[in-house]
Amino acid sequence: MTDSIDRLFGFKRPHGRFLERRLPDRLKERLNYLYCFGGITFTLFLMLLFTGLLLSVYYSPSEEHAYESIVRIQETVFAGALIRAIHKWSANLMVVAMLVHMARVFIHGAYRHPRELTWVAGTALLVITLAFGFTGYLLPWNQKAYWATVVGTAMPGTLPLIGEGLTLLFRGGEDVTGETLVRFYSIHTHWLPVVTFVMLWAHFHMIKRRGIAGGM
Ligand code: HEM
Repeated sequence: MTDSIDRLFGFKRPHGRFLERRLPDRLKERLNYLYCFGGITFTLFLMLLFTGLLLSVYYSPSEEHAYESIVRIQETVFAGALIRAIHKWSANLMVVAMLVHMARVFIHGAYRHPRELTWVAGTALLVITLAFGFTGYLLPWNQKAYWATVVGTAMPGTLPLIGEGLTLLFRGGEDVTGETLVRFYSIHTHWLPVVTFVMLWAHFHMIKRRGIAGGM
């Protein structure tokens, strides 16, 4: 926020603890856009949250109505196709931005002590983000979604001992049915967002405590 605006709002001083962070010297000398990718990933997550909330107003997570509710969003609901497209694009871009962020952190060796827990929380966020993608893919309830989930949920089935149980757990039965759809909807819109908030808090808390690494 520029000083002239802040003179009117007086926002900086009371919130200084959150706004003012120490940066590595090399960043103060020359801006490196690679350091923006954590923030870009977070911005995309917020966009997904907002567009996802809007989609949930019209989406119906049932075997009978899921597909037609998507068609309705796409063809009848005001700006439905746009909101759905933003949700899809943000999801894809979030994975890309997260991988660039992760590569930046790796190349700079910023995963090393004392930031190992920041890295661990980040790894959890990576798994959660991929789980968002996997569970969201089934929701349109079309042929592509259905068969992708048949294959995806069969994969853990090849694991010794626990495999069969895992497939049953994911599908909510022997086959991919309406039961699986409700299960994936619940995971996609309730469980994963809650776990994401916890892990984001952990990630940001560690960044605040340990600061941003100086790089190479
Ligand atoms: C939802 C996903 C994620 C979000 C929103 C996020 C956000 C952020 C932000 C805003 C920063 C501050 C510095 C920067 O932007 O480069 C950061 C730093 C960091 N992130 Fe992430 N991150 C995510 C995923 C990950 C992943 C997948 C990893 C690695 C497995 C990771 C590891 C780290 C580490 C080690 C730092 C400290 C870097 C340093 O000190 O230079 N993050 N993250």
